Amino acid sequence: MLIRHAEAAGDAGVCADVYAPFVTGSVASFEEAPPTPAEMGSRIARLSATHAWLVAEHDGAVVGFAYGGPHRERAAYRWATDVSVYVDGRFHRRGVGRALYATLFELLTRQGFRVACAGITLPNDASVALHRSMGFQPVGVYRRIGWKDGAWRDVIWWQRQLGPQDVGRAPEEPGPPVRLMAPEQRA
Ligand SMILES: CC(C)(COP(=O)(O)OP(=O)(O)OC[C@H]1O[C@@H](n2cnc3c(N)ncnc32)[C@H](O)[C@@H]1OP(=O)(O)O)[C@@H](O)C(=O)NCCC(=O)NCCS
Repeated sequence: MLIRHAEAAGDAGVCADVYAPFVTGSVASFEEAPPTPAEMGSRIARLSATHAWLVAEHDGAVVGFAYGGPHRERAAYRWATDVSVYVDGRFHRRGVGRALYATLFELLTRQGFRVACAGITLPNDASVALHRSMGFQPVGVYRRIGWKDGAWRDVIWWQRQLGPQDVGRAPEEPGPPVRLMAPEQRA
């Protein structure tokens, strides 16, 4: 297996293909229409510039992806990142999700992010188990926060420390997370 940065042009279509079944056939995503490859490409480009978007390859084919993005827009949240991971159903339970997340967290930590946050629509035993096994702790449950597939859905939120474990007042404000530039974005 190979983990690498996604390329907005080259990987948009396959990321859209991996993601689509979780939009149309499950409540894992709260989107209702699968994003087009063009939309996926613009998401990859946008988030690769500030966080990271990684893909996993198996025998030369992309079988999953994971990315970080802003948690909230207000300034004090700038060290917090939301993370997501999606793996082609034919490749579940082979360590792809874990490898993507482990690499993503290493990068986000080096960038200076301090907390990773993840929201999981319930039920999703696989995702809950993955996040728990990767050191996330449950924060709480938004009850009936979204309507999908004919029912109100609960979302459980998790968080995981990425950097040093400062508690309360830190000695000084940390520098802002550094931007991460994908190879293709370098002029
Ligand atoms: C959640 C998901 C990303 C896991 O990816 P994966 O590549 O199958 O996971 P891995 O093989 O790396 O598993 C890592 C660990 O997660 C846990 N896990 C993963 N799938 C599990 C399952 N079906 N049941 C129980 N535990 C599971 C296990 O602890 C596993 O470690 P182990 O295999 O050593 O026991 C995958 O199931 C998926 O794409 N689901 C649909 C999309 C989704 O829900 N994404 C998350 C949105 S919040």
